[in-house]
Amino acid sequence: MTLDLSALPDGFVWGAATAAYQIEGAVAEDGRAPSIWDTFSRTPGKVANGDTGDVACDHYHRVPEDIGLMGRLGLDAYRFSLAWPRVMPQGGGPVNPAGLAFYDRLVDALLEAGITPFPTLYHWDLPQAQQDRGGWPERETALRFAEYAAVVAERLGDRVTHWATLNEPLCSAWIGHLQGVMAPGLTDLKAAVRASYHLHLGHGLAVQALRAAVPNAQVGIVNNLSPCEPASDRPEDVAAALRSDGHTNRWWLDPIHGRGYPEDMLELYGVELPVQAGDMETIAAPLDWLGLNYYFRDIVADDPAGPVPHTRAVRVPDVRRTAMDWEVHAGGLERLLLRLTEEYGARKIYVTENGSAYEDRVGPDGQVHDPERTAYLEEHLAACARAVRGGAPLAGYFAWSLLDNFEWAYGYDKRFGLVHVDYETQRRTVKGSGRRYADIIAAHRARARSAA
Ligand code: FCB
Repeated sequence: MTLDLSALPDGFVWGAATAAYQIEGAVAEDGRAPSIWDTFSRTPGKVANGDTGDVACDHYHRVPEDIGLMGRLGLDAYRFSLAWPRVMPQGGGPVNPAGLAFYDRLVDALLEAGITPFPTLYHWDLPQAQQDRGGWPERETALRFAEYAAVVAERLGDRVTHWATLNEPLCSAWIGHLQGVMAPGLTDLKAAVRASYHLHLGHGLAVQALRAAVPNAQVGIVNNLSPCEPASDRPEDVAAALRSDGHTNRWWLDPIHGRGYPEDMLELYGVELPVQAGDMETIAAPLDWLGLNYYFRDIVADDPAGPVPHTRAVRVPDVRRTAMDWEVHAGGLERLLLRLTEEYGARKIYVTENGSAYEDRVGPDGQVHDPERTAYLEEHLAACARAVRGGAPLAGYFAWSLLDNFEWAYGYDKRFGLVHVDYETQRRTVKGSGRRYADIIAAHRARARSAA
């Protein structure tokens, strides 16, 4: 396939993403305390094969090697998350200097390699001690999150400009507190709605903390969104798609854009939000960019007896699917980028995650051949280029993921990396898709240079 990415702007940021619990390992080292994911992964039956993040990719001990891989791919930027339980092991209270020092060294090493750090403050690993005080359903967690944000910003803000507060609050709230298949594993609508609210409040307070400590901060939030389409044109299914859109997209976008929470969803959930004076303004703090994580679209049918929002996912036949059983549908990415632009007035967007899992193996030739992931990558980059032509202010793309890693409830079974990890030996092998990504980046850079 010839890939025309000429619409992507010259300074386009090419990156890859990871998250602390998924790659770091070293869960009990240098003063790190357990997070809710340590607890959850140790709870029998919650994670495939009983896998945990205890060792993961051992990134904590392999930073130079992993930055070397980023260099081989030619990345401009690296999106990673900081583990709150390394920095403030009890949630609030004392700072753990050794934990903070790890990220300090990581940032220095990235900058030395010419790679821009894009840290995310929270990618789901709440300190267990904070969970024990009630976790996200309680306001206190939002306040502690802001303290943690201030500590990190104070330490790294002289070198780090680009910051994301939360990764995918939808997953923390809905999957963690309503569906129960991610930490902390609750199935409680009231707790889930309260968690979503305090995640937003924590986000808004963290924006304030970042701006106070880092004068030139470029602050954003990372949401996972999906276009929600009705399975048929029956009015019931059309209404179901609207509810699904409320649950998946509008609930997460409207309040941060100063529009409040969607009325139809407030009514559907029937849970009173614990709003205090000034909160909605805090939540709507102006942002410099929006992060979009895109994996699939949702096709839904009405299901009055089904779980909130009373919809049922419908499987479309005869489509390509990844090893996650997710449909490959690049058009959804284009549509979401345009929606953020047209409906929410986005001024700058990064695709902060996009990628695919396949059953990769190191072949007898020592290589990992993953043509399906390469096709996925190319199709989604082409969708980005179309969205830019349509007016979307897309400034960069971060592939999920740099490395194969701990895929939450799926454990190590699902491989999303551009780089293969052999978990027995910790040997890294750049996959075919990683080499292709490096070529795409190099070609785009060469074109930008020759145009200059
Ligand atoms: C996203 C998560 C990320 C990874 C990908 C596959 O929802 O942010 O950590 O697990 O899915």
